[in-house]
Amino acid sequence: MNLLSASVLACDFSRLGEQIAMAERCGSDYIHLDVMDGHFVPNLTFGPMFVEAVRPYAKIFFDVHMMVTDPMDLAEAFVKAGADGITIHAESFRKTPVAAGTPGNVASYVEDIDYDRLIAALCRLREMGVHPGCSISPLTPVEVIRPVLPYVDMVLIMTVQPGYGGQKLIPETLDKVRTLREWAPDLNIEVDGGINNSTLAETLAAGANVIVMGTGFFRAEDPAEAARVFHAM
Ligand code: DX5
Ligand code: ZN
Repeated sequence: MNLLSASVLACDFSRLGEQIAMAERCGSDYIHLDVMDGHFVPNLTFGPMFVEAVRPYAKIFFDVHMMVTDPMDLAEAFVKAGADGITIHAESFRKTPVAAGTPGNVASYVEDIDYDRLIAALCRLREMGVHPGCSISPLTPVEVIRPVLPYVDMVLIMTVQPGYGGQKLIPETLDKVRTLREWAPDLNIEVDGGINNSTLAETLAAGANVIVMGTGFFRAEDPAEAARVFHAM
């Protein structure tokens, strides 16, 4: 089943609660919450207090996407605030110390990932009672994900460089979705970035089934219609 995850990054932040309620009413399956620390990505959003404040506005799945250098520092606080799923980036678990000022989302390779730490983090998320997810940025090869497949409920393939909404989908990232779908026929594969009416069909055809839409949903003329079109595909 295909699931729509409406990303609040594109909504009217001055009316967040209402916008989240609207997304649920219009038929979004998940609410996608982008957590950015100004270090892993060059942008800053919100923390657990924000999630707690908007939690009463909808009952649907809160899909928290952690674009931060140390995702486990605040994971428990996000769980307490009402997250249902927490997705962490493999690039947050590099072995090589990253030079100051280097964004954390640059390419990482299998040898460069501290899998002991990454797998421990994913297991810890499950212990905390949320669905663990793992993400890779566009420059990171899909092979990086393979060792964590037994420990996740979802893999998020970034289809734009993380950090900002409203970017154009990078078509090559869909090759990773196709490979991953071959490896894991039943896995929830989420795609995030640049998905709208004109790119949706190709992301579904590639094998993704959890689709993040920020601009494509919240800035649509009629978000309910956008959700209807989504669910009819
Ligand atoms: C980008 C975020 C996305 C973003 C997608 O770093 O992870 O969730 O909101 O926005 P759109 O759908 O506008 O590309
Ligand atoms: Zn996201």
